[in-house]
Amino acid sequence: MASITIRNLDPATKEALRLRAAANNRSMEEEARIIFGALAKPSPAGAPSVTETPAIATAQVGSGILVDKRILLIIGGGIAAYKCLDLIRRLRERGAHVRCVMTRAAEEFITPLSVGALTADTVFTDLFDRQDEHDVGHIRLARQADLIVVAPATADLMAKMAHGLANDLASTVLMAAKAPVLIAPAMNPAMWDHPATRRNRETLAGDGIGFVGPNAGEMAESGEAGYGRMAEPLEIAAAVEALLDNRPRPLAGKTVIVTSGPTHEPIDPVRYIANRSSGKQGHAIAAALAELGATVRLVSGPVTIADPVGVEMVRVESARDMHDAVHQLLPADAAIFAAAVADYRPATEAGDKIKKRDGGIEAVALTENPDILASVGTHDTARPRLVIGFAAETRDLVANAEAKLARKGADFVVANDVSHDSGIGGEGGVMGGDRNRITLVSKGVAERWPEMDKTEVAARIAALVAERLETVTV
Ligand SMILES: Cc1cc2nc3c(=O)[nH]c(=O)nc-3n(C[C@H](O)[C@H](O)[C@H](O)COP(=O)(O)O)c2cc1C
Repeated sequence: MASITIRNLDPATKEALRLRAAANNRSMEEEARIIFGALAKPSPAGAPSVTETPAIATAQVGSGILVDKRILLIIGGGIAAYKCLDLIRRLRERGAHVRCVMTRAAEEFITPLSVGALTADTVFTDLFDRQDEHDVGHIRLARQADLIVVAPATADLMAKMAHGLANDLASTVLMAAKAPVLIAPAMNPAMWDHPATRRNRETLAGDGIGFVGPNAGEMAESGEAGYGRMAEPLEIAAAVEALLDNRPRPLAGKTVIVTSGPTHEPIDPVRYIANRSSGKQGHAIAAALAELGATVRLVSGPVTIADPVGVEMVRVESARDMHDAVHQLLPADAAIFAAAVADYRPATEAGDKIKKRDGGIEAVALTENPDILASVGTHDTARPRLVIGFAAETRDLVANAEAKLARKGADFVVANDVSHDSGIGGEGGVMGGDRNRITLVSKGVAERWPEMDKTEVAARIAALVAERLETVTV
């Protein structure tokens, strides 16, 4: 048996391994074992036509975009301030230099001491600090940053920004800033929905301020839920990377429709038929396509994950809504159907909530939903150049995907094994989990990809789209 000493790896490989291990909360040795394990796994018997594609050995935390970038993080006074401690870590492990300004209110939630320990730098809190302001330090802070991130962006900070107030260090720095600004709002759903905050949101978007989140979910206040949770540190780090990304954009000028998430098929006003799809894979594909410069229109069923950065969202509930939304968005250069669309819906939707009765209720009759993939894949006049479908299967993966390919007029079918023993994604399996193992099926070819994060699957699918749309057919 061969052994590899991590110490002896070349510096670039070692760094890539370190970053990847950090992202996965593993030791470098553990990460190396997982990479080699994935490469060495035997292919299942009975699938001779399937080729294996190696794992991306150079996967790392982020894409290297943040290396040596200077991020000024302004921490506002909200409960979510604690998440900034992790955000600092996430930005630094991607190679960024992070400096922090804390509002007076932020100090009620976390201490400058812990922030300073994580940034390994001075934490700035006071506009009238005699030491920092002898050379007008607030202007220096604003000008030395490649990007300013405000997290949590409180209702108060957003209002100040929208109205040009500059009455503390944070707001003064924001007024003096020439660098792009990204805000991660966090507040109670009622505050987020308040007409004043709505007006401020519009003003800030009009001023070119970038937004990440907020997400829907439970609030710190017991019993409160809705839009207002701050985006998770990894989502913010991804948004930061997207904003500072000036790599080539092979999909610039191309439009791609992506569907994602489950659909909800109403039984009555409060009940519906759904499935376990989380939308993670479809959303990740939309984000990866946007990173390559595509104009992405994401038609999403009901999900609880954050909107991907730089993507136009169209929210729908049912399969019929999704069908109509997709057709309204045609024409497009490519369409990727990652949503887990319900094949059937209740034939009738009860106008009132069906009451509980002794002895149960009669069967719920089902009727077929429109086939979105087939309707686009075989469209007479507006078929996109590239149509990719998804097939969630629990058995005969490749055979079922091949049949779907021909029947629905798709160029590729991404087949994923959602059987319980696929063992991917922890307890939730592929649906809901963070990892995926797919087989990419096109006419006569089935290419099995190793198990990887859904974001890696997404990056590969986006690269495939770029390659296909670049190819000129003569
Ligand atoms: C326990 C507690 C939690 C709070 N959480 C939030 C919050 O999540 N979002 C928000 O906009 N304001 C929140 N506030 C109110 C802000 O702290 C308050 O508006 C403050 O003036 C914001 O100051 P800043 O914008 O300068 O940081 C909270 C207040 C308290 C006491």
